Amino acid sequence: ATTLKAAATADGRYFGTALTDGNLGDSTLLGVADAQFDMVTPGNEMKWDTTEPSNGSYNFGPGDQIVSYASGHGMRVRGHNLVWQNQLPSWVSSLPSNQVQGAMEAHITAEVTHYKGEVYSWDVVNEPFNGDGSFVADAFYNAMGSGYIADALRTAHAADPNAKLYLNDYNIEGENAKSDAMYNLAQSLLAQGVPLGGIGFESHFIVGQVPSDMQANMQRFANLGLDVAVTELDDRIQLPASSAALQQQATDYGNVVKDCLAVSRCVGVSQWGVGDPDSWIPGTFPGWGAATMFDQNYQPKPSFYAALAALGGS
Ligand code: G3I
Repeated sequence: ATTLKAAATADGRYFGTALTDGNLGDSTLLGVADAQFDMVTPGNEMKWDTTEPSNGSYNFGPGDQIVSYASGHGMRVRGHNLVWQNQLPSWVSSLPSNQVQGAMEAHITAEVTHYKGEVYSWDVVNEPFNGDGSFVADAFYNAMGSGYIADALRTAHAADPNAKLYLNDYNIEGENAKSDAMYNLAQSLLAQGVPLGGIGFESHFIVGQVPSDMQANMQRFANLGLDVAVTELDDRIQLPASSAALQQQATDYGNVVKDCLAVSRCVGVSQWGVGDPDSWIPGTFPGWGAATMFDQNYQPKPSFYAALAALGGS
């Protein structure tokens, strides 16, 4: 196989990317996306601030464009996301706390019902933990305590019993306080019969810092009976990127792919954006970038060839 998606398919996996509506007019970007990826995560279009900007008023147009593009190009969709403290419209955080649960359940039911049968999975709750393993004290936690997570999963499952339901977070790729908290939560949810199907490991890495225990860490979640997925992979480099850094990035991408392939319940890897022009990194971490497998001109980088080789392609 000469493409990421073909090589991943041969391994029983997918290889995905994030796409935004703004990407849908860029033929160079889409040429690479169509050739290489068979799973799409909408970058922003399914988040609460877009889908329900005011209470009870829904806007699925932007998300529908991504779904329509994906289904027309043989790509499945990871729904992202239903409940998150960011890109949350202010009307939600301004609600009296006794109305937050109702608003959350209504939002989940409306969005999951709208996309029923069209998404492979949902990131039901995104980034619920702080680095020390405590819960983020957002509107949902403040109103409902940690029980909001079980309630969100049950509500999503009722609306689309066939979608795989995920919790998704960053800095949980290795074993640490945050991934321990996620593990304990997952174990407790499963013990209560909550319909949790998978854990998403965002994997926003710094070059040379992929945790050496990533495979072991994903395996412990898989051993609970859960799918695991690398959901938002990128690997940032200080600019200008040296050839040594690009080589280290290739090693990193290869290692992440190998870690996934070594865990039978690891269903696939998604990169966050198609190429370096699409990456959130330079905007958020000034001086850093070059974080994807395709350069400013969408030419494949050493990291692309390393990921492809790790999948068994060439
Ligand atoms: O849409 C407005 C536009 O109207 C306005 O003019 C412009 C000026 O700032 O902002 C636009 O909104 C931006 C939005 O992306 C759409 O482009 C926001 O400012 C910007 O903050 C937002 O960033 C997104 C970020 O999530 C915010 O939480 C990134 O595009 C998106 O890639 C990023 O994705 C997250 C995942 O969802 C969760 N994991 C981490 C990952 C990276 O941060």
